[in-house]
Amino acid sequence: MRSYKEAFSAYWHPVAFAHELKERPLAARLLETELVVWRTGTGVAATQRYCAHRGADLCGGHVTGEGLRCGFHGWTYGQDGRCVQVPSQPAVPIPARAALSSYQAVERYGLIWVCLAPQPAAPLPEWPELEDGSVATVSLPRLDWNTSAGRLIEIVLDVAHLSWVHDGTFGNPQQQEVAPYEVERKPHGVRAQISYPALAPSIGGAPPKVDRTTLTYDVFLPFAARLTFKPTVFYAHTVYAIASPWSEEKMQCFYFSSYHPRLRNHFPDMFVKSELAILEQDRLVAEAQRPLAHPLDFTSEVHVRADRLPLEYRRALIALRTGQAVEPPTPD
Ligand code: FES
Ligand SMILES: [Fe+2]
Repeated sequence: MRSYKEAFSAYWHPVAFAHELKERPLAARLLETELVVWRTGTGVAATQRYCAHRGADLCGGHVTGEGLRCGFHGWTYGQDGRCVQVPSQPAVPIPARAALSSYQAVERYGLIWVCLAPQPAAPLPEWPELEDGSVATVSLPRLDWNTSAGRLIEIVLDVAHLSWVHDGTFGNPQQQEVAPYEVERKPHGVRAQISYPALAPSIGGAPPKVDRTTLTYDVFLPFAARLTFKPTVFYAHTVYAIASPWSEEKMQCFYFSSYHPRLRNHFPDMFVKSELAILEQDRLVAEAQRPLAHPLDFTSEVHVRADRLPLEYRRALIALRTGQAVEPPTPD
């Protein structure tokens, strides 16, 4: 089987929020690869982080009109990674080996995405609502959790945990049974819809209110999930969770929400506060799961019908990892 790094290098992964990347070069990490990303005149660039000359950290350098200039001796690299300037000997040809590994990088959906392979195996997720001006967005600080990207996405997709882990935020402990639901296989991932009697926490001693909410899950492989919450009485909002693998056991997650622009005055504060409380509940579970690496097989854990969505996700991810189609076991 291909290594984890090899298998997932062929996909786009976010390495920073676009708002984090200003005029200074920024350190990033992806699949055990140390990167530096920076803004060029026309877009964004990503290369190896350490200078080809003497290993200086290029995050300490500067972006100039010619490219990224190292702070140690001023060697400057273009976005293709080739050295274009060696100030100590301007009249001599630049050594051919004076180059950095360079990678494809693109800015979209408020994120900087990098693909480590020369040819991406799949395009970026399609989230047209984020580009047609119909919604506003708000992001959380990056989630820096000690878990794997696949485990994180499975928690997002986990239907049965809502009533347990999210007691006190929106989970409804009365609703333990998970009604049967369908999972659709899509070329880009998996999709499912459920109805959940979410519980708004009691305010000022009033009894908590049940709000039957439709949750629509849509996964873009390998590690991006979009989840829309449509309550009966209020505007819908959508969360986007994109896990970025540092290694097989460690990820960072880029998490943001889109919402109706009419809610601009209140939604961002409310969302950030409540979502941080919800995600803290998830983090405690995720970081304590073992193994940390997402098990890319069906036999090491037990699957029941309520797990159909995470199980179908796992099926699709195993197929990506191995390059071969697989069928999950029938859930018990
Ligand atoms: S180490 Fe970067 S220019 Fe010398
Ligand atoms: Fe959760």
